[in-house]
Amino acid sequence: MYICLCNRVTESEIYQAFHRGADSLGALKQNLSLGTNCGCCLEVANKMLKEAVFEKEESSKPLFYAA
Ligand code: FES
Repeated sequence: MYICLCNRVTESEIYQAFHRGADSLGALKQNLSLGTNCGCCLEVANKMLKEAVFEKEESSKPLFYAA
């Protein structure tokens, strides 16, 4: 699904860029040209970024803590 119609950036490309280290909106803009025209996509992209950061943090937590 396209997130940025102006620059034809897909949801998948945003997640791929995030997993390559683009962990801020600025980094996504620089890597994908996301939001460089009308900017309508930035709110959705920022929400996706926050969810990806949360999921990454949650997945790095241990399942059990040693007593
Ligand atoms: Fe992304 Fe216009 S939709 S810059």
